Parts: sequence; C-alpha cells; structure tokens
Amino acid sequence: MNEVKSYIDSNQQKFLDELMEFLRIPSVSTDSKFKSDVLRGAGFLEGALKKAGVDLVEICQTAGHPIVYAEKIISSDLPTVLVYGHYDVQPADPYELWDSPPFEPVIRNERIYARGSCDDKGQLYMHIKALEILNQQGVPPCNLKFILEGEEEIGSSNLNLFVNENATRLKSDIVLISDTTIIDNDTPSITIGLRGLSYVEVEVTGPNRDLHSGVYGGAVANPINVLCDMISSLIDNKGRVTIPGFYHQVKELSTDERAKVAEAPFDLGKYQQEIGITDIQGEEGFTTLERTGIRPTLDVNGIWGGYTGKGAKTVLPSKAYAKISMRLVPDQDDEEITRLFTEHFISIAPKSVTVNVTTHHGGKPAVTPTDSMAFQAASNAFEKVWGKAPIATRDGGSIPVVSLFSEILGIDTVLMGFGLDSDAIHSPNESYGIFNYLKGIETIVLFHQQYAALSK
Ligand code: BES
Ligand code: MN
Ligand code: MN
Repeated sequence: MNEVKSYIDSNQQKFLDELMEFLRIPSVSTDSKFKSDVLRGAGFLEGALKKAGVDLVEICQTAGHPIVYAEKIISSDLPTVLVYGHYDVQPADPYELWDSPPFEPVIRNERIYARGSCDDKGQLYMHIKALEILNQQGVPPCNLKFILEGEEEIGSSNLNLFVNENATRLKSDIVLISDTTIIDNDTPSITIGLRGLSYVEVEVTGPNRDLHSGVYGGAVANPINVLCDMISSLIDNKGRVTIPGFYHQVKELSTDERAKVAEAPFDLGKYQQEIGITDIQGEEGFTTLERTGIRPTLDVNGIWGGYTGKGAKTVLPSKAYAKISMRLVPDQDDEEITRLFTEHFISIAPKSVTVNVTTHHGGKPAVTPTDSMAFQAASNAFEKVWGKAPIATRDGGSIPVVSLFSEILGIDTVLMGFGLDSDAIHSPNESYGIFNYLKGIETIVLFHQQYAALSK
C-alpha cells in the first residue's frame, strides 16, 4: 500500500471525528440567527488549518460573514494552487423531514448524515486533510493558498470586493474547487461546466385589500390566478423559455461537443426512481443531460399568497408572490437576463394588476479548460486513485466564483468534486459517503503531486 493510502487508513477515525465536529456547527449563512455560528465555523477552520501546518491563517472580516485565508508557501519556484471552498450551509428546514437532527452528524450505512456533509464542509475539509498528509510526508510539492468563504449559499456578495482588494496576495496558477459531483462511485468525472444564475422575486398586486371571494369573485382579477397564467406563459409547449432575447447569447454546442456530453452513462430508470418521478420533461430536441448541463431554463422556486393556513378561508387575495430562478449557460449574462425577464414580465401583466420585480443574487456560467496542465493533473489523479480515467461533465448547479476568479485574477479553475447527486444537498437528510470523503482526500493529494510534476 502506498504511503498516502496507509496514512489515510490509519487516520480514518480521526478524519471522520474532525469532520463531525465541523458539521456540528450550524453555519447557516442566510439566517442572522446563526451569525455567531458562522463565525464559529470560521474559527474552527482557522484551528484546523493551523494544525494541518499552514504558515499563515487569517479570519478576514467582510461586510457579511468572514473569509478564512491561509497559505503554505514552500518556494517561489513551485506552482501555487488556490483552494476555494465554502463553510456556510443551506438552512436545514424542514427539520421534521430529517431522520436525524441536521446538526448532530451520525454515520449510517457508511455515510455521514448532516447539513453540509457534502455541500461543502465535507468536500472543503478534504483539502485541509490533504495538506496535513503532504506536510506529514515531507515538503508539499506546490505552494497552497486557501480562500474559504461563509457566503456562497447567499450569492458570495462580499467575495468580489475581497478578491479585488487582495488580488496580489491571491495570485496563483490554478484554482482548485471540490464543490461538485461525480457521476457515480464507479464512474469518476470532472466537472468542466457550470450554469449561471439569475434569481428574481415577483409581486403581483390586485385589489387594495383581501376581498370576500364570493362577493367579488368572478369580477375582480385574482392576483394568484394572474400570476399562475403569467408564469405558465414563460415556457412554451416545446419547453422553451418565451422571454424575448433569452436565447440570444446561448452558445449552441457542436455535434462533437454534444457527443462528449452523451459519453456520460445515464440510466433513465434509475434517475426517475431515485427522485420518485414517473416521467421526465424538458426542452424538445435535447437529452436529460443536455437539459441540465448545456441548456438554460426557468423554474419557480416558491409561490405564495392568499390563505395558506389550516382549514379554508374564502378570500380573493390582494397579492401574490413567486421566487423564480433562471439557470444560464455560456455566454448568457445574468444581469442582462434579469433585465430581459423584468421587462418581459411587466409587459405581459394584464391591466387589472400591477407587477413588481426585485433581484436576488446571480452568477455567471463557467466552462473550464480541458487542455491545461491542471486538468491533466486532475485526470491523472482520478485515474490513479479510482482506477478509471474521469469523464468530463457539465453540471447544472452554479458556483459564481469560478467566473470571478477568471475575470479578476485571470486564473482558471479545476472542479474536482466528489459528491453524488443522491447526496441530497440542499434537501433533508443530506449525506456524504465515507468512501467519497476518504478517496477524495487521496485524489487531492495526488493532484498536488501530479500538478507539481507536470509543471516542472
Ligand atoms: N455546490 C453547489 C453548486 C453545485 C452543486 C454545482 C452540484 C454542481 C453540482 C453550490 O453550493 C450551490 O448550491 N450553488 C447555488 C448558487 C448560489 C449562487 C446560491 C446553486 O447552484 O443554486
Ligand atoms: Mn456548494
Ligand atoms: Mn449549495
């Protein structure tokens, strides 16, 4: 057995215990009730990085939650890898749907169950353990910098300023991120594309107060009915978004590129069964992997208004609301799409209501190069540890910092994630496989070694 593997084997329990301690901190960034817990999350990382052997670690205050910055610099002759991760997590609600409390991690069936176990605390922590191993075994083969943020799940709004102000300090050759998925444990993959995001909230107002639905019903426009009509008009019967200009910037993929997407194995039956659906849907002319990987889309994330309490109340509501997200692909621009949405949504409102659109966070789509040394290093690392060359995939989720690093710092990213779609990130009972956690640590160590060797 090689040294790396045997170190991981003999420290398995310690590695798990440490991650469990990290997962016990409810670092929910969106809810101010957890502000001090997010801060504790940063403090935990500061301690863990010190123990792993960095030369410098700082908790950097921002207008929101802090950013943890650390470095281990060996020599200016060596390449520098900038590791990015996020220690904030999504809210755990609804708590009653969890089989065990979200912030009391437990191991069942070789998996760690807790909010953030996969997204992204478990995946981030693998990088700190990889550094520990590199340090234990001598001198790390490259310089490492860490930028760990506490606001990814709320749009990374303060990261932009931090990266701009610290551009010199963050200077690196490559960004390495583990915050994505592989196809399955027998089919390793490297993510080479992420979708962007435009997220808006709409408010439709009808009468100036809630009305009796018998006295006024039939004669006065019901904002919820109107909102539903408006929303359903946003996608046509071919599954295409109807907002004028929505597809203008979309880069159509070549036949070759589409053939690459199709290389990933996909089992429709398993896909449907895993999420409990009996049929799929989507844009005509595209496969499921294309629909989530290379095509833009629009979804309602939440809709409310009127009476939603117990029992029945007869009311014609004054207002209706919805939260709507659009997932974007190269070269769509989130701000442009938000503008197009807003203009269109206001233009389709009937005279009987008024419409207000507000904007939440967004993010740009990203594609990462596959002809770089860093991609080759990641590919080699996967092949050595997993016994198979990884397939390049396009993921549907968004990590807006990828385009930020490329625009501000001019640095490319390698997305070497180890999660599975079935890890249920953002859902109740999120979990992360111990297999993925330990194999991931090994793969990351190998990445650094491979990258340093190829850079010589
Ligand atoms: N790690 C996810 C993104 C992700 C998940 C990428 C799975 C690829 C595969 C990240 O934490 C996330 O949830 N991002 C948000 C966007 C953000 C701006 C709130 C998302 O995709 O909704
Ligand atoms: Mn994440
Ligand atoms: Mn997330």
